Amino acid sequence: MASAPDYDRVAVSDLDAVAVDASTCTRCPLAAGRTQVVFGMGNVQADLLFVGEGPGADEDAAGLPFVGRSGKLLDRLIAEEMGLGRADCYITNTVMCRPPANRDPRPEELAACRSWLDAKIEHIDPRVVVTLGNVATRSLLERPEGITRLRGQAYPWKGRVLVPTYHPSAVLRGSPGSMAAMRADLVRAKLALAASPSIPSVAG
Ligand code: URA
Repeated sequence: MASAPDYDRVAVSDLDAVAVDASTCTRCPLAAGRTQVVFGMGNVQADLLFVGEGPGADEDAAGLPFVGRSGKLLDRLIAEEMGLGRADCYITNTVMCRPPANRDPRPEELAACRSWLDAKIEHIDPRVVVTLGNVATRSLLERPEGITRLRGQAYPWKGRVLVPTYHPSAVLRGSPGSMAAMRADLVRAKLALAASPSIPSVAG
């Protein structure tokens, strides 16, 4: 008797295949300076996706996003404000290769990496996307304003909810008000998760 298809496994292996393709990407000059592509990590069926800027030195060495000081702070705030851990969400970046000297990714680098990010969003299909900092927020919302202007509210975005917040490195730098603001934004993301149903109603 044929056994039922394992849909969990199908979803995982689909994104695995994208990650294998991405691991040899040479679409932009950042490829030349990387140790390895940092694709993303976490639960591929999560309702919650975090999008940071790009790998730093620690992430480039480990091949995983947010493993340095910023990541430790991010983990702590997600735990304290949302009661969640890495197994409950997926974490990735706007670009998958480390920009030299941790400069901001350039528009052409963001554009080159965008279809990889879009593929992750399509496969994971999160209900809530939290953008961390100026680069991710401007890039996804397609707005020119800075994070201080854009944060503080949830935006409808491509059938999902997008919640912008500060990058944890801004909090580590002691940017005034950023810690309290980031905590409030994570609570906002938690409320958005609670408010948006995971299975669309067909009852009308
Ligand atoms: N900063 C980012 O934006 N992403 C990382 O993965 C690490 C630091």
